[in-house]
Amino acid sequence: MTTVAEAPMEVATAMPQRRTARTTRPTQRIVLTGFMGSGKSTVGRLLAESLGWEFLDLDHVISARTGKTVPQIFAEQGEPAFRREETAALVSVLGRSRVVIALGGGAPETLGNRLLLEQTPATAVVYLEAAFPTLADRCMTQALDPTATARPVFADPAVAEKRFHMRHPLYLRLASTRLDTGSLTPEEVAESLIEVLLLSAK
Ligand code: S3P
Repeated sequence: MTTVAEAPMEVATAMPQRRTARTTRPTQRIVLTGFMGSGKSTVGRLLAESLGWEFLDLDHVISARTGKTVPQIFAEQGEPAFRREETAALVSVLGRSRVVIALGGGAPETLGNRLLLEQTPATAVVYLEAAFPTLADRCMTQALDPTATARPVFADPAVAEKRFHMRHPLYLRLASTRLDTGSLTPEEVAESLIEVLLLSAK
């Protein structure tokens, strides 16, 4: 695991051995993971733009495949049905190359998703990290925007906090790189990732 703030230029040596197979081939996919409000979509868009790669937001892929918004799927079919759509959407995007993918915050809860990500070659999984109060502030600010998609899992902040603590070790285990986004702008996060993943901006 590489912590950008601690060792920005030591990716290869800091990688645990089991990551080696993934990192010896040039990275073709960057997958951003982290809790709601961690900046996955904003950073992903900026990163893809800098690299000249495609950007895919998994929630948008789910909506395009189902013809429904995420809150609609939660309300009409329940969370387990949403999770099944999420896995199907993940399978559909992992075949692409030169792509930045923003996962939904709950995707790593599903074991099958974690296995898919671990077994897809040339795939760098990045954990965009922040403390829960920072994430909660960002989610509440974003919820004030009438055009923003509602987040059913954030409906009760106390329940969301429990899920954050349950997910944190899963994000950590899944990611080969972690970055504390607490005091960084999305632009700074995207720049750091280009540096730490040893990629070249276009
Ligand atoms: C969810 C996060 C959302 C979306 C859905 C469920 C979660 O994505 O997938 O509302 O379980 O944390 P963002 O992390 O992009 O908000």
